[in-house]
Amino acid sequence: MWSAGAGRFPILDQRMSLGLTEHKKEDRQEQLARIRDVLGTRSIVLIGLMGAGKTAVGRRLANRLDLPFIDADTEIEVAAGASVSEIFAEHGESYFRRGERKVIARLLEGGPQVLATGGGAYMDAETRANIKARGLSVWLKAEIKVLLKRVGRRDSRPLLTAGNPEKVMKKLMEERYPIYEEADVTVESRDVPHEMIVGAVIDALAAKLGCGAKPDKVQGRKKVK
Ligand code: S3P
Repeated sequence: MWSAGAGRFPILDQRMSLGLTEHKKEDRQEQLARIRDVLGTRSIVLIGLMGAGKTAVGRRLANRLDLPFIDADTEIEVAAGASVSEIFAEHGESYFRRGERKVIARLLEGGPQVLATGGGAYMDAETRANIKARGLSVWLKAEIKVLLKRVGRRDSRPLLTAGNPEKVMKKLMEERYPIYEEADVTVESRDVPHEMIVGAVIDALAAKLGCGAKPDKVQGRKKVK
């Protein structure tokens, strides 16, 4: 017996859905290419608190945009020949901040790229001005629950190992959120697979840069039901 609705012509259904998926993929590829074009030599700079997912999201975002991914903390460690924890322990935070400022200024000359920065980097006025001049900042904003869950996995963050992580994080939120708010784009970093956050970042960047879907294509697509 033929039943009404989906599943009546399985091969046809399969082809139609494959066709739509292909269209979606093509749209996404076009959108990514337009973002790259409009970006020019600027960097996409990820900012936000420890545990917000800057590195994990940044790496995947760079992959999707076919751009290099650079992690500022790793570059600082290479330049210093020591880990972030060692730099804090041996020379103190202000020494680390000076190095961070210098390294990020150098890295920003190398765009286009996706650049993940350490949580305190954007708090520095000079670094913030440099990012504004040479980049597009994306604040990955997360709830404290998400941040604590993520940072709990590692003890490589000297600011957190020095005290009660929840108290430290709350204080940092109070101090930093009013400044992070200056970012060009804000994306909620929820406790979902990183790929979903990457999708949200791409949409937010496209909107900010005026690279949304082409209206004629959207209309044309509507006719094909
Ligand atoms: C810091 C964050 C860390 C690192 C350093 C200081 C901060 O980077 O730069 O431990 O001040 O928030 P992540 O945000 O990548 O953990």
